[in-house]
Amino acid sequence: MSQSPLTVSLDLALSGKGAPPRADYDASLGAAVGALAWLRQQAADKSLELLGVPARTDDIRKARARAKEIAASANRVVVLGIGGSSLGGQALTALRKNAVPFVEFYDNPDPFSWTAALKRFDLKKTHFIAISKSGGTAEVMMQVLPLVEMLKKAGVRNIGKHFTIITEPHDSALAAFADSIKAPKLDHPLGVGGRYSVLTMVGLLPAILMGIDVKQLRAGAAAVLAQTLGAKSPADSPAATGAALHHALAKQGRLANTILWPYCDALAVFGGWWKQLWAESLGKDGQGSTPVSVLGPVDQHSQLQLFRDGPNNALFTLVTIDMKGHGPVVPKASAKALGQDYLAGKRPGDLIAAQSRGTAQTLFNNGRPVRMIHVKKVDAFSMGALMMHFMLETIIMGRLMGVNPFDQPGVEEAKILARQYLSQK
Ligand code: PA5
Repeated sequence: MSQSPLTVSLDLALSGKGAPPRADYDASLGAAVGALAWLRQQAADKSLELLGVPARTDDIRKARARAKEIAASANRVVVLGIGGSSLGGQALTALRKNAVPFVEFYDNPDPFSWTAALKRFDLKKTHFIAISKSGGTAEVMMQVLPLVEMLKKAGVRNIGKHFTIITEPHDSALAAFADSIKAPKLDHPLGVGGRYSVLTMVGLLPAILMGIDVKQLRAGAAAVLAQTLGAKSPADSPAATGAALHHALAKQGRLANTILWPYCDALAVFGGWWKQLWAESLGKDGQGSTPVSVLGPVDQHSQLQLFRDGPNNALFTLVTIDMKGHGPVVPKASAKALGQDYLAGKRPGDLIAAQSRGTAQTLFNNGRPVRMIHVKKVDAFSMGALMMHFMLETIIMGRLMGVNPFDQPGVEEAKILARQYLSQK
């Protein structure tokens, strides 16, 4: 069994002025015993389908076969879908290896950018993957339906060959659309919620088209899952300790925000996926914390002042990778001639490694709790591990808070109202 590639330290969160009272943290960690028992039970009786996803291989075969067909005729793949049907795939673009076909995501049906994009596409060489778990989301239908006429106008004969539909296997508008144009349908698993679906067909097909090793992606997720399910106590599961830390701070009224702060561009888009996961899963019953995704070192020059001296109501999670020694070296002579001796012989990776340490220590010194997560590099294995880590942490946090981390009544309400307003003359 592979080991989790995540190294997690709570040293700067459980000590110093910013730490929650130890008794509160211990109580939350104690409560996580029940959450872990629940997860183990769900894994054993297969009732939480997400937990079985990392071990699946049948859908990888299907996705590979479909990807091969798509790549044979398209030089551009446009992924349509929103929320959980898009953000995970977008996060995976950081691992892209293939430039052709070029996989792009259009989640926002903004008429200006979408129209501009459509003008850029050579429709004869473009394949559309439309993803919607429910099969009825207005944004996706709004993008998909006009495409048929556009493709016809562009001289495309077999419209169905230009589409792949990923949706739940039941009647829906999108499923009927697929049938009407004879486009292949792939299953969105019934028991996996949108924001938990990145490791299913929803992320698999785009990932394979981007040349990503999806077996490694799942292996990373499996390693983290095994660590949590096999943990002798919650203290041995970073997902449980992370949830307990959040929970202890929330109990003190000190968790208005939770800040994810990767120090590498490869995890910049990941933050968008994680924000939906945390916000939509846990913002319920008057509880919850706002997920904020920033990027190091860019946001040191934008947000750090607020984070250090503003309201003390956030947990900071810095994610670092092995950076030292990477990037072009600063010539010693020119650095010294300009009085920049500290940069002589150093590389951008050295600078960023020092900056992440500096930020963590600055926040800690000023009474702000900081969790550190380190992975050696961002590859398919560590990406899968990070994704599973944050999904489990969110689920455990939901159990600790007493909210259902799998529903989204707020999203549904807004969807219904938008439909209503659109039908009004
Ligand atoms: O997590 C969720 O379930 C939602 O945010 C959905 O991902 C989002 O609303 C899109 O829904 P669908 O995939 O049904 O089109």
